[in-house]
Amino acid sequence: MLNFKTLKDIDFSNKKVIIRVDFNVPIKDNKIMDDNRIVRSIKTIKYVLDNKASSIVLLSHLGKVKEEKDKDSNSLKIVVPRLSELLNIDVDFISNTSGDKMLEELSNSKNIVKLVENTRFEDLDNKKESNCDEGLAKFWASLGDIFVFDGFGVSHRNHASVSGIAKYIDTYAGFLVEEEIKKIDNIIEEDTHPFSIVIGGAKVKDKIGVINNLIKKCDNLIIGGAMAFTFLKAKGYNVGASLIDEESIDFCNNLLDKYNDKIMLPIDIVTDKGIECSINDIKDDDIGYDIGSKTIELFMSELSHSKRVILNGTMGKNEDVNYSKGTKSIFSYLASSAIKVLVGGGDTASAVKEYGLEDNFYHVSTGGGATLEYLGGNLGDIFKFISKSSD
Ligand code: 3PG
Repeated sequence: MLNFKTLKDIDFSNKKVIIRVDFNVPIKDNKIMDDNRIVRSIKTIKYVLDNKASSIVLLSHLGKVKEEKDKDSNSLKIVVPRLSELLNIDVDFISNTSGDKMLEELSNSKNIVKLVENTRFEDLDNKKESNCDEGLAKFWASLGDIFVFDGFGVSHRNHASVSGIAKYIDTYAGFLVEEEIKKIDNIIEEDTHPFSIVIGGAKVKDKIGVINNLIKKCDNLIIGGAMAFTFLKAKGYNVGASLIDEESIDFCNNLLDKYNDKIMLPIDIVTDKGIECSINDIKDDDIGYDIGSKTIELFMSELSHSKRVILNGTMGKNEDVNYSKGTKSIFSYLASSAIKVLVGGGDTASAVKEYGLEDNFYHVSTGGGATLEYLGGNLGDIFKFISKSSD
C-alpha cells in the first residue's frame, strides 16, 4: 500500500499553494453535464483555505487543445460559477496560462482562490504542457511554495502541470488522490474470496494491462461489452459483424489457454435487430450490442457468491436505451447487493451516475484512463513525488 506525503503533514499558513485538480468535466451546449470531479476536489481546496494559505492557484486541463479553435470549446471559465458556489467564496479566473501576462493577472487578482485557464492551451506552443516542457513546469512551480496534487484522473500523464511542477517544489497528495489510491489498493489487497473482475467496453487492447495484473489475483473474470466478441471469436464462434479487436486475438487465445476456468463469457446476446440469440446462432450480418437475458442471469448468479468486485466497463451499447438492459441489470444488481464494489471511472462511472446508483458502491473512481493504468500496475511519475518512500 502506498504511503503518501499528505496535507496533514504541512503547515499552510501564509503559503502560496498550487493545486493540480482534474476539472476535465463533460460539457454539452455550454453546460457542465457532470460536476463530480469539481465536487470531489472541494475537500482539499477547503482544507488548504481553512489552514490559511495566502493564495491558491488551481491548475487543470480540459479536453484536448490541438488548434487555436479548440480554445473556445475548452475554456475552464465555465467552471468558475460552480466552483465559487461549492466553496462559497468568489474565485478569480486567470485567463493567461504563462508569462508576464499571467503574472500581471495574478498580481491584480484579489481573491485567494484563482482558477487558471486550461493548462493545455500551452500545447499550442510545441505541446509544452503534454511534453512536460521544463521551462513551463519551472515557471508554474515559481507561482507557489507548495504543490498539492489532487487530480487523480490525470495522474497517469507525465505533463508539465502534473509531474513537471513536482520536480521543483515540495509536493503532497490531496485528499482525493489519497482516497482513490487507498480504496483501490484496499480492494485489490483484501484477502476475501471470491474476488471478481467484471470487465467490458469496446476494445480488449485497452484492458490488457488490468487483465494481466489482476488475473492471478481474481477468482473469476466476467467479460461483457463488445470486447466479449473478440474472446468469443478466439474460441471459434461466429460473431457475425460484431466489433472485433483483431490485434488482440492472440492475447485472448493465450489467456483462454491459461485461465479458461476463470473466464466467463456471454452465452447469449442482443443483436442490432433487437433479437436475443444464443452465441451458437449468430448470423453473419448480426452485430452484438448487448448481453442477453440468460447471460444476465448467469453473471448475476456467479456474482452472488462474490465478496469483492472491480467493475470496469459496460455490458453493451448502453448509451442506446434499446441495448442498455445488460449494463443496467448487472450494475443495479451489484448496487443492491452487500458486495464490496469498486467502480472504475470513465464510461462505467457515467453509466452508474445515469442510473442514480453512485451512492451504492464502495467507491466510484473519478479516473478513467488513470484507474485503468493504476489497476494495470502502471504508476505515473507523480507518484514518485507524493509517496513517502521518495523522501
Ligand atoms: C480523463 O478524463 O480521463 C482525464 O482527465 C485525463 O484526460 P486525458 O485522457 O485527455 O489526458
